[in-house]
Amino acid sequence: MSDGAYHAAYQRSLDDPDGFWGEAAKAIEWVTPPPRVLDDDRPPFYRWFTGGTLNTSFNALDRHVRDGRGEQAAIHYVSPVTDTKRTITYAALLDEVARFAGVLSSLGVEKGDRVVIYMPMVPEAVVAMLACARIGAVHSVVFGGFAPAELAARVEDAKPVVVVSASCGIEPSRVVEYKPLLDAALDRSEHKPEAVIVLQREQAPADVGVRDTDWEEMEWDDVMRDAEPADPVTVDATDPLYILYTSGTTGRPKGIVRDNGGHAVALRWSMPNVYGINPGDTWFTASDVGWVVGHSYIVYAPLLTGATTVLYEGKPVGTPDASAFFRVISDYGVKAMFTAPTAYRAIKRDDPSGELLGSLDLSSLETLFLAGERLDPDTWEWATERLGVPVVDNWWQTETGWPIASNLRGLEPMPIKPGSPSVPVPGYAVETLGDDGRPVPAGTEGAICIKLPMPPGTLPTLWGDDERYVSGYLSAFDGYYLTGDGGMVDEDGYLFVMGRTDDVLNVAGHRLSTGSIEAALAGHEAVAECAVIGVADDFKGQVPRGLVVLKSGVSAESDGERIRAELVQRVRDEVGAVASLRQVDIVTALPKTRSGKILRKTMREIADGKTPTVPSTIEDATVLETLTPVLRPPA
Ligand code: COA
Ligand code: AMP
Repeated sequence: MSDGAYHAAYQRSLDDPDGFWGEAAKAIEWVTPPPRVLDDDRPPFYRWFTGGTLNTSFNALDRHVRDGRGEQAAIHYVSPVTDTKRTITYAALLDEVARFAGVLSSLGVEKGDRVVIYMPMVPEAVVAMLACARIGAVHSVVFGGFAPAELAARVEDAKPVVVVSASCGIEPSRVVEYKPLLDAALDRSEHKPEAVIVLQREQAPADVGVRDTDWEEMEWDDVMRDAEPADPVTVDATDPLYILYTSGTTGRPKGIVRDNGGHAVALRWSMPNVYGINPGDTWFTASDVGWVVGHSYIVYAPLLTGATTVLYEGKPVGTPDASAFFRVISDYGVKAMFTAPTAYRAIKRDDPSGELLGSLDLSSLETLFLAGERLDPDTWEWATERLGVPVVDNWWQTETGWPIASNLRGLEPMPIKPGSPSVPVPGYAVETLGDDGRPVPAGTEGAICIKLPMPPGTLPTLWGDDERYVSGYLSAFDGYYLTGDGGMVDEDGYLFVMGRTDDVLNVAGHRLSTGSIEAALAGHEAVAECAVIGVADDFKGQVPRGLVVLKSGVSAESDGERIRAELVQRVRDEVGAVASLRQVDIVTALPKTRSGKILRKTMREIADGKTPTVPSTIEDATVLETLTPVLRPPA
């Protein structure tokens, strides 16, 4: 590795975090400039920019309009699934956001109140997010592919005053009606909002306000008609901007909290330094606003930068074909694109020789960034050859909100090693630790951890649950944040991320919990016990597999087929189709330790064709022997 800009910045970020992040904070416009940078008064609860005040939507919108970017495109909305293209300027976006903020205020939403947003990839989702930020309300966006039980769990925890939704989302194979899903979730939830606002879409308008509910239901267009614009409300740097629920190993999602000040500083710093994007550039992230990649790199980072962001409602393939992304790049002069490796595996599968790319002008594209799951060297190579630009892996998670490791294209581009997201990003003291809590030597696998404090923008805690934050992330190794990923660092300081060491699933770049899927399976009347494991998949990276033991008296022979089909359907209904559970096997017993812990990791290793690690505490080794032929991939 060269000893240039990266090395100097990285070292300074760790040796002098006050100086490093204090300087970065100057790119943000504060109401009160922060008197402190790192606040380490209450470890392990570190805070950034305590005492500073600002407004995130002002920084994302008003300041750009004031500084002459009013007529610049803020969003290019490209929706092949509805055959729509719409460009929204910064001035127009500011107007809509201010008016929707006024709507929320008029419904009684105040600073610190929560608003749940359950919407597809439409500009109104971005408007709703920024409107919350404008009045200091805390948004919690729920991915549209989640079914009622998942939505209800988030509503119960966040306790929103208002829920904002749309009548439908559009998948290539079907129109997904959101309103019945929302109704079912609110019926299940103990907490009820005061109002629900529904954006009507012509593909499937919803019945709004016809049910007898405790809350008021209204339509987006009606409330916006006479809305009074609201001014930005000043909040503390440490006040929450949003909660984004993410999957842990249990069925109960974790509410990742993001603050206002650290988030704005970190994301603004990342755009030029990690992604090489500056004000006025056009940037295209194909993800969903329901995931962290969408929050950070469809919405906040590009807008805080004064760049133009593409909001794409469609798929990489099939809407209409594998050239969809490249048409966007060529039509809008996209400088860099960001998506998940699965999307490129889909494109490669449909257009292996890259024929559809041939006629398009991709000269504006400088870099392709991929994240969200492991980037396999084959996909990296294919994309590099077809696009002729650097393909840059970056590794991070909902908890951190922005990259932990990347090749920093703006700060100092480095050689790329396939299979590695390159080096730790300034601010992140990444170490791989052995079971004894000591750093392992280069080239040896360990638990990837980050020495506290983590940089600005990372989670300060879990929503309403400091204890779970400490027990879930900070207790394994004293003074370190546990990422949950295993991996190693090589002699050049490059990180290799091997995958989760816990039971979190990553299916097509979507993070899901084994616990939620198990809860859906366990709810079936015929199921006595069950386990879900994530097995390697060439296309989606990983897919879940279910193993169930039936209650005594239920016959696998006569009822097995029906039960398996019902279980697959239950998971679609309870968790969402996005769980992609297709295979459920009925087995006679599950392997366990003597204390009753199900050996998911051992089963996963067998299913992946690896040599399984069988703990000495296994209760009955014959169970594993019986299961092996069921789990093993066909030779
Ligand atoms: N609303 C409702 N349903 C949704 C949905 C949404 N927002 N997103 C996905 N689904 C459904 C799909 O329609 C599909 O349903 P089906 O089983 O009836 O066909 C199911 O969930 C599985 O979806 P997915 O895993 O996305 O598979 P797919 O075969 O439809 O598409 C890809 C595969 C690769 C095209 C798609 O996964 C993709 O674009 N991945 C990129 C990943 C990504 O953006 N990750 C975010 C983090 S960067
Ligand atoms: P999410 O919180 O949904 O962003 O998922 C985070 C998890 O996805 C990480 O803990 C990793 O397991 C995985 N992940 C994300 N990016 C990468 C990457 N570039 N390489 C390997 N795994 C990744």
